[in-house]
Amino acid sequence: MKTFEEKKFNIPTLKGISAKNIEEHLKLYAGYVKHANLIVTKIAELSKNTDAHAYEIGELQRRFGFEFDGMRNHEIYFASLEGGAQPLADNSSLRGDIASEWGSFEAWLSLFNQVAKTRGIGWAVLYYDKKSDRLMNAWIDEQHLGQLNGATPILMLDMWEHSFVADYHPSGKANYIADFFANLNWSAIEKKYSEAVK
Ligand SMILES: [Fe+2]
Repeated sequence: MKTFEEKKFNIPTLKGISAKNIEEHLKLYAGYVKHANLIVTKIAELSKNTDAHAYEIGELQRRFGFEFDGMRNHEIYFASLEGGAQPLADNSSLRGDIASEWGSFEAWLSLFNQVAKTRGIGWAVLYYDKKSDRLMNAWIDEQHLGQLNGATPILMLDMWEHSFVADYHPSGKANYIADFFANLNWSAIEKKYSEAVK
């Protein structure tokens, strides 16, 4: 049987977000990989007698999206912090397309900040939808509720408390968001966008 593999990330020293927090956060990511694999394996085992295990299979299947998206969301989050902070070039297509959609990069950033401050645990996401050729913001509850079918996540900001409370305290969301943006490797994000648009 195929298995999902835990990816390794080379995260440099970050502004505001401690190495210890990243270390702990990577352990949580590893847990999603482990549980995505566990669900697939368990369902295969229980499928030997679907009638006897109908309820268990249904419940495991229901939670699969949570574990799978938890794995993928974190891979996008950590990848955007690799390689050190890099600005989004003034002439980049992503900056231009954000400005076309929202008026200016700054207008989008302000709106994205509001999305990130949505109450509860989840993710703020910038998606690109190829079918409509447009960028969209979204809020995802937990790891999976609100993912946009077929659209590619370009930027994902983890707004679960585990991602910031150790460094910023519960009241420090705004500082965490500001530091996340200060730490981003926009050239990696721009590359991801170019591949999605292709
Ligand atoms: Fe997380």
